[in-house]
Amino acid sequence: MRAKTPGTVGWRLVGYCALLLGGMTAALLAWYGTGAAGVRAVIRASAKTSLILFLCAFVASSAARRWPAPATRWLLANRRYLGVSFALSHALHLAVILILLRVDPEFAISRGTIVGGGLAYLFIFAMAATSFDRSAAWVGSVVWRRLHTVGSYYIWFIFFASYAPRAAIQSIWYLPLVLLLLAGLFLRLTRKRVASRTSIVPIPTA
Ligand code: HEM
Repeated sequence: MRAKTPGTVGWRLVGYCALLLGGMTAALLAWYGTGAAGVRAVIRASAKTSLILFLCAFVASSAARRWPAPATRWLLANRRYLGVSFALSHALHLAVILILLRVDPEFAISRGTIVGGGLAYLFIFAMAATSFDRSAAWVGSVVWRRLHTVGSYYIWFIFFASYAPRAAIQSIWYLPLVLLLLAGLFLRLTRKRVASRTSIVPIPTA
């Protein structure tokens, strides 16, 4: 088993995030009701919690290299748990989408969303499944690195493809989210090439 870096919260961090996601869902359903409006509120909120958790994991390594400081070292030490918490948050996004299909007869999912979003979910579940020491060692470092690199850029793209049109057409309030995504990508693409680690959780050492 890997020795813990100081500042690592570990799997407890995933537990705290699960509690926060549960509390957020309960509060939104209490406020907006358990019909389509409440379910849609949870879909939108879970997309945002997913975005924040995803970006933290996505930039952790680049930020720690560029700005070595306690905060960025904390991000790096907890990158794996932030990545798994993102998967959890996005599992909530999927669960409430399935609930919306039941509570709103008008709601339908386009073929493009099923293919594009479905592929993102395959990456998310595969990346989460290989975020444990044993499963990571089992797939091997080459496959692991490719999966987590390609997967994280693809997930970034789906976030961008979801928020950019909303910022352009629906509301200016989506613009900060688009800018955050672009800043995260810029940080990743311009990072110092000390080593070639490019993904959400540390590469298995075994
Ligand atoms: C088959 C898979 C998916 C389906 C069916 C789906 C469905 C939806 C729906 C219906 C909404 C709009 C809710 C509303 O405004 O009332 C939504 C919003 C969103 N989804 Fe998904 N989604 C899927 C996968 C994903 C994935 C993989 C991502 C990101 C990686 C994502 C990111 C977002 C974002 C960013 C929003 C915008 C939230 C907002 O308006 O604030 N979705 N999704």
